[in-house]
Amino acid sequence: MRKIYVFDTTLRDGEQSPGVNLNTREKVEIAHQLEKLGIDRMEAGFPAASPGDLAAVNAVAKAVKNSTVIGLSRAREQDIDAVREALKGAQDPCIHIFLATSPIHRQHKLRMEKTQVLETARAAIRYGLKYLPKVEFSLEDAGRTELDFVVEMVTMAVQEGASVVNIPDTVGYLTPYEYGNIFKHIKQNVVDVEKIQLSAHCHNDLGMATANTLAAILNGADQIEGTINGIGERAGNTAIEEIAMALETRQEFFQAKTSLQLSEIARTSRLVSRLTGMVVPGNKAIVGANAFAHESGIHQDGMLKEKTTYEIMTPESIGLKESKLVLGKHSGRHAFRERLVELGYELSEEDLNRAFGQFKDLADKKKEVSDDDILALLEEKLADA
Ligand code: KIV
Ligand code: ZN
Repeated sequence: MRKIYVFDTTLRDGEQSPGVNLNTREKVEIAHQLEKLGIDRMEAGFPAASPGDLAAVNAVAKAVKNSTVIGLSRAREQDIDAVREALKGAQDPCIHIFLATSPIHRQHKLRMEKTQVLETARAAIRYGLKYLPKVEFSLEDAGRTELDFVVEMVTMAVQEGASVVNIPDTVGYLTPYEYGNIFKHIKQNVVDVEKIQLSAHCHNDLGMATANTLAAILNGADQIEGTINGIGERAGNTAIEEIAMALETRQEFFQAKTSLQLSEIARTSRLVSRLTGMVVPGNKAIVGANAFAHESGIHQDGMLKEKTTYEIMTPESIGLKESKLVLGKHSGRHAFRERLVELGYELSEEDLNRAFGQFKDLADKKKEVSDDDILALLEEKLADA
């Protein structure tokens, strides 16, 4: 089974979500939890962005013992110097240098020709490697870059000694077929490509970040980048928990797995949501409140007979206690009776029928019938008797 390395950027790309601002204490708290989750590499911030971020990256660098700590840098010496400073005290430091490569970015943002982009990146990687043991190089907007220029840039990064080369779909523009194809093309056309790890970094603008990342894995990516709960710029980044559980649940298909401690997923998700203030939507895959909840009578009946009828993974596998059978207007007698037993009531068939009728009347008026509602309903019934 091939190991897929996990690069977490919750503390950098995730923090770039509008409205999110993590202080040093919060970054360190999340970093500790990411270590428990078994993240291989974590990007702690962008030290050149502000003195506060430099200090926060430094605090994370000193606190983390079991993961590589990474600082982001543009391809310029001042940024690289800020990362050097921030990563002092890290057990396993790495600098992440990026430069845009697409025609749109070259023309409008950088105002550089291809050769200037190539030489600027080369000089930055060389400068980075003078002071730090490892460099990851990213071709920003690789997804919209000419394939032959991608090959040229990756070849240069291999020659200069980068450890990881990242191929971001910065604007979430590609389809899985197209994104996977870039990895295939690099593998087939870059000399000595086995000297580096290839990394996938996707954004979710068209809702395809997870699918694109999985396509990259199928085409030879060694590392995936993402955030917890999929937070990040605009529509967010690839959600790490989705990749980890897709690989776990469909092992035979992907023949690859992460070394994440999956039972820490729910706890990590809750912590990130609490500290960033970004609420996880109920229907969010894996970590949404409804991801293991069942409301319809047919599904609840199936679940009570055999859980695999309607669950492809267990809530316990991500660190939750149990699936939730939500009682509402679609629920059936089977689930209702089970809930009564859990609440300590064993009713006769006749009483059960009557209580079930009252429950259905109530369920028509309310979205979800709580345990308290059921207890009130039973108490009324007992008082009437
Ligand atoms: O999306 C992106 O291109 C990035 C780079 C800085 C790697 O986040
Ligand atoms: Zn990004």
